[in-house]
Amino acid sequence: MKRRNFVLGTLGAGAAALWWAKPADRGAPYTPYFRALNAELKRNGPMEPVLVIDLDRLDANIDRVAATLRGAGKHYRIVEKSLPSPKLIDYVARRAQTDRLMSFHQPFLNHDAEFFPGFDVLMGKPLPVRAAAQFYRTLKGPFDPARQLQWLCDTPQRLREYAELARGLGTKVRANLEIDVGLHRGGARDNGALKAMLDVIAAHPEQLEFSGFMGYDAHVGMGVPGILGGAQELLDKAMARYQGFVDFTRREFAALWREDLTLNAGGSPSYTLHAGERLSNDISTGTALLKPTHYDLDTLKAHVPAAFIATPVLKKTGSIELPALDGRSKLFSWWDPNQRETFFVYGGWWRADYESPTGLQFNELFGHSANQEIVNASPAVGLEVGDQVFLRPQISESVLLEFGDLVILRGGRIIDRWPVFSA
Ligand SMILES: Cc1ncc(COP(=O)(O)O)c(C=O)c1O
Repeated sequence: MKRRNFVLGTLGAGAAALWWAKPADRGAPYTPYFRALNAELKRNGPMEPVLVIDLDRLDANIDRVAATLRGAGKHYRIVEKSLPSPKLIDYVARRAQTDRLMSFHQPFLNHDAEFFPGFDVLMGKPLPVRAAAQFYRTLKGPFDPARQLQWLCDTPQRLREYAELARGLGTKVRANLEIDVGLHRGGARDNGALKAMLDVIAAHPEQLEFSGFMGYDAHVGMGVPGILGGAQELLDKAMARYQGFVDFTRREFAALWREDLTLNAGGSPSYTLHAGERLSNDISTGTALLKPTHYDLDTLKAHVPAAFIATPVLKKTGSIELPALDGRSKLFSWWDPNQRETFFVYGGWWRADYESPTGLQFNELFGHSANQEIVNASPAVGLEVGDQVFLRPQISESVLLEFGDLVILRGGRIIDRWPVFSA
């Protein structure tokens, strides 16, 4: 081949490859669900960023969790941090018929004790003893921690500190022990570490009461690479470790063992698999009820997204125009049809992914704004100023706290606003 032909051929192939890499138009208008929700929010919403909870969708998820765990003979424990609104927790508790909560934060724990004075509360993390002392100082109402609260303890030192607190308060503290079933986020790793904790409990019978184990297994079902074991294999390993801790305690600390101990496990990614094991009796689940995007997992295929961020479009400015590049920005909208429309929305930079209309995208070159976030799209999305952009949170904890009162939807209509916890 002549040199000139070779060069032309190479250039042609390069151009074809480049054209092949050109982004396709990914834009499409709202689905019927979001078209109706947009109309409802334009009629009755506050026209500011809101967190919408769809009760019809939530019901379907609650019923799934409740039926799965009831069928397996296990108690359902609501994860408060993932549903941080007293009315939301109350709604879930009534529908699922449970009075068990898992708490993670001292101010929320005080709210729990006030709003749910008849509940059993298990801590999901070990709080510094001074935070625990603050709980007792600010406790209001008939909630009786000596009967209804299980503090989580992870080391002998923590147990000694709680024993000292109990002595000072003239009360007894129920201690649930954190065990490491494979997550490696602390707690007893082996029987030696567990023995050291149980020794402290046995030495303080007036101050400490052993109330069970908490073995969290977020790694089960949460996208650990398949080569390291499938979800079921990881659960089997976790429960084998759990069984080892139970057997050891029954054998070596028989006087502390009771049949009504709380043997807590699970979490949203693994709760469905726990229906198939017979050791745990208490399963925590929260996020699965709202199914944010990081919970689009095989184990939660039957769940439906029930929480959305909605925010109004404030401005529609046409093809992307980058500061400093001005007119030269046309190259971007020529290359990518998904940059041929530009919107600025009310607020932004949330831990969330665009949901509807289809094909909305962030612009890295323009950058984020928590005040007026840029959103690029193809004209095919059909958005106008005053329409809503819908996102799905990536996680529910903390994101739910960023929007003031939750907007509550039933049958496609806004029926209420529910306050969230304040720290
Ligand atoms: C101890 C413990 N249990 C259970 C959960 C599960 O919560 P969720 O179901 O909301 O993922 C968590 C979440 O962080 C946790 O830390």
